[in-house]
Amino acid sequence: MKDRSTTRARLRLALAPLLATCAAAATMVAMAPSASAGTTLGASAAEKGRYFGAAIAAGRMSDSQYMNILNAEFNSVTAENEMKWASTEPQQNVFSYGSADRIVNHALSRGMSVRGHTLLWHAQQPGWAQGMSGSALRNAAINHVTKVATYYRGKIHSWDVVNEAFADGGSGGRRDSNLQRTGNDWIEAAFRAARAADPGAKLCYNDYNTDGINAKSTGIYNMVRDFKSRGVPIDCVGFQSHLGTTFPGDYQANLQRFADLGVDVQITELDVMKGSNQANVFASVTRACLAVSRCTGITVWGIRDSDSWRGSDDALLWDRSGNKKQAYHSTLEALNAGGGTPPPTTTPPPPTTTPPPSGGGCTASVTLNSWSGGFVANVKVTAGSAAINGWTVRVALPGGTAVTGTWSAQASGASGTVNFRNVDYNGQVGAGASTEFGFQGTGVGPSAAPTCTVG
Ligand code: XIL
Repeated sequence: MKDRSTTRARLRLALAPLLATCAAAATMVAMAPSASAGTTLGASAAEKGRYFGAAIAAGRMSDSQYMNILNAEFNSVTAENEMKWASTEPQQNVFSYGSADRIVNHALSRGMSVRGHTLLWHAQQPGWAQGMSGSALRNAAINHVTKVATYYRGKIHSWDVVNEAFADGGSGGRRDSNLQRTGNDWIEAAFRAARAADPGAKLCYNDYNTDGINAKSTGIYNMVRDFKSRGVPIDCVGFQSHLGTTFPGDYQANLQRFADLGVDVQITELDVMKGSNQANVFASVTRACLAVSRCTGITVWGIRDSDSWRGSDDALLWDRSGNKKQAYHSTLEALNAGGGTPPPTTTPPPPTTTPPPSGGGCTASVTLNSWSGGFVANVKVTAGSAAINGWTVRVALPGGTAVTGTWSAQASGASGTVNFRNVDYNGQVGAGASTEFGFQGTGVGPSAAPTCTVG
């Protein structure tokens, strides 16, 4: 598939310099887990107030060896592909959660937490979105964030709201993509929509080739600092950590500088090139996370070498027969060796909800997520006893408030009394059924109930 080969080509590029410096031999680090501490990755991480997770594929859930390892060793799960845009919204506004639900339900039923991966990404988009641009794409993207995050509200520990939006190389700038071409504010719009939809989830930005202090990680660092200063809701940064044969010397310092901005950091897709240094690199990443109090967890990108997207790299902790590798033992040993407990983290406040008024035609209700100087409003439009074909919601904004972005509706203006009209895909609402749109703004969100008229 195009996405997969593109991603693989990119990975090869990313690893090339590391491979070139591969040491011919190094002392192997064979270590057994100490008897007194945790005897599985998940249990040992939990003792340190952290999680240890694996990416899993719904298609492998009938493999008992795979599931036995998962259930015994891990206390967090990420869907390897099943929560990506192409999987969850294969046709516009038609959502498909079957495979993702199998993973989420399994995890939750066993007390594992779930990382949501990922709401918006330039890759693995459905065909219909790949062909879109401008405000149509922006609206579709924000609608996707809102719908998927709402569907999983309360079930997701951390969402990768945006994945891989920065360019490789020395620019430190954004990657070109159809999403980026909708305007530089697409990332903050996505985070605001995600916060409004699931106020309890940690909202992360996730990327690769950020495994030390370099132009790309510094570009992301500057974005996070800007978001924090302007009140854009971001809680965490994910470091994919698809690594080669060497451990970057400034890996921990890089995690720490992000943590110092006031966000959690997570190792989200760890895998390491095979070779004599593999076990050491896994252990070094683990030690770095434990040394940073806001590093809240580590996820490996698969279970056995045969499950890995990295093919012949044998990049994981179990071999192709399901045996624990030396890399497993060194990782567990590093976990057991200690590290501080992360500080308790604050949960964002729940949104204020205006109950929907009842009556004929249509009604509208607003769910507001506000912070100092800004807000996101999610508006639910409900048809009365008859189906409607087109709606307009009138919202009175307080003086000084300005609408800066709208999704899944067309706004008549930016201040004062604003009329929000349906867009082409959400005008038809069945009797008693609902649709949603949203807007974000600066200033104070609306306090008066909105009115809805048909047409
Ligand atoms: C990979 C999956 O592992 C593959 O199965 C799929 O073909 C392509 O995507 N960065 C990410 C992950 O954020 O979603 C990617 O996962 C690996 C790179």
